[in-house]
Amino acid sequence: MFTIDHNPALMRLAVNIDHIATLRNARNEFEPDPVAAALLAEKSGAAGIVCHLREDRRHIRDNDLQRLRRAVTTKLDLEMAMTSEMQRIALQTKPELITLVPEKREELTTEGGFNIKAHYSTLVEFLKPFKTAGIESSIFIEPDKNAIDLSAKAGADLVELHTGSYALKANDDERARELQRIHAAAIYAKSIGLKVVAGHGLNYLNISPFKEITEIEEVSIGHAIIAHAVFIGLDAAVKELIRIIQ
Ligand code: PXP
Repeated sequence: MFTIDHNPALMRLAVNIDHIATLRNARNEFEPDPVAAALLAEKSGAAGIVCHLREDRRHIRDNDLQRLRRAVTTKLDLEMAMTSEMQRIALQTKPELITLVPEKREELTTEGGFNIKAHYSTLVEFLKPFKTAGIESSIFIEPDKNAIDLSAKAGADLVELHTGSYALKANDDERARELQRIHAAAIYAKSIGLKVVAGHGLNYLNISPFKEITEIEEVSIGHAIIAHAVFIGLDAAVKELIRIIQ
């Protein structure tokens, strides 16, 4: 499936196209089309496309997911809640990767990492069919050693480290401390055999220090890229972000 030859030494960018669908849904018609955005993002150098099929379908809808599956040739990452409905859809759709995220109806975006301790035994059973189907699984967690250990024990292939707290810190010292926490978590996760990616709240200004965290293979970015694309176009917005991380 992987058609673009990305240099493994360079950090990759996965582009989340949910907010193209948010804009489309504002009119409930056809434009802009998230699938067209995905193809353009891939052409501009994205190593993967991310979408979150929410229970309330507020952005990506079932039909978008099917069309994305047919169109995406790099890597499709389906973010989803740990529900039987999502498990069924994901196993039918066969993305290359699923990312388990906590989901609350009332939130504006994903708040906080997956509470792996509270859901551990369900999680173990939940992940098994994905392994059988050859679909990689990732868990969106806080940069925390216990969460990393439990992710590995539950059978996840990757962890996505939540960078939301880092992104929200207004104070330089606090931000540097949070970055250190992310770096330590990335080193630890890699040392126990997990692949490591990161995301949430990353943008053109706060992403630079991540270049130094070589354990993080990929960053997953949505809002900042789509917001920038409104002014400079998606091709330029994707390329600009890739230039910064590589
Ligand atoms: N990673 C995960 C697991 C997410 O839920 C999101 C938001 O959908 C992102 C990354 C991207 O976050 P942002 O839109 O802030 O770049």
